[in-house]
Amino acid sequence: MSVVEIVDHPLIQHKISLLRDRNTGTKEFRDLVSEVAMLLCYEATRDLPTEEVEVETPIALARTKVLAGRKLALVPILRAGLGMVDGMLSMIPAAKVGHIGLYRNEGTLEPVEYYCKLPNDIAEREVIVLDPMLATGGSAIDAITTIKKKGAKHIKFIGLLAAPEGMKALHEAHPDVDIYVGALDERLNDKGYIVPGLGDAGDRIFGTK
Ligand code: PRP
Ligand code: URA
Repeated sequence: MSVVEIVDHPLIQHKISLLRDRNTGTKEFRDLVSEVAMLLCYEATRDLPTEEVEVETPIALARTKVLAGRKLALVPILRAGLGMVDGMLSMIPAAKVGHIGLYRNEGTLEPVEYYCKLPNDIAEREVIVLDPMLATGGSAIDAITTIKKKGAKHIKFIGLLAAPEGMKALHEAHPDVDIYVGALDERLNDKGYIVPGLGDAGDRIFGTK
C-alpha cells in the first residue's frame, strides 16, 4: 500500500501560511520553500532502512544505527522544484540530483517536457520527485512516467501544496508512488491555479513577476 499523506505538522502549517501571503518577498519565500522541503523530507524518509553498527563514544561502545540499503536520488521538476533541493540536501547530503524540465502549456494545461538529465544509476536508487505545486497533476505524472521509463522502481513525490484534482490524478496514474504534501487546498480555478494556493511558485521563487 502506498502512502498519501498531508503532513500537517504545526511548523509546516505556519511556514505555508507565510508562503501563501502575497506580501512575502522573494528572499523570504525562497527560504521558506527550502525549510518546508526539509521538514517534509523528515517525514518522507521515515521508512528508510537502517542497520546496526558499533561506535566508540568517549564513554563506551554503542550499538547504534545508520542508514542502509538503496541510495537516494532527488529529481526536482524545473523550475519551481529547484527551490526544494537545498532543504532536502541539508537532510540527505549524499543524494544525487537529476533534473526534469517541464512547463505547462497555458492554454491546454498539458505539461511539455524540455529537459531531462538523471543519474546513470537511477534504476538502483530510491527517487524523490520534488515540485512545490501539484495542481492538475499533469507535470508530476509525466515526470514520474519519464523516471519509470529509465528503470526506477521506488519513487516518492514531495510537494508543498496540492489540489484535490492533482492528488487524485497522481495517485490514480501512479498508485505505487508515495505522496507527501504540506497542505491540501480547496480546488483549481479555471486557469489551473490552486485556490487559495500561493500563486505561481516558480515566479515567486525566482522573482520573475
Ligand atoms: C508549475 C509547478 C508545477 C506545475 C504544476 O510549473 O511548479 O511544475 O506548474 O501544475 P500541474 O500539476 O497542473 O502540472 P510551471 O508549468 O508554471 O513551470 P515553471 O516552474 O517553470 O514556472
Ligand atoms: N503552478 C503554480 O505555480 N501554482 C499553481 O497554483 C498551479 C500551478
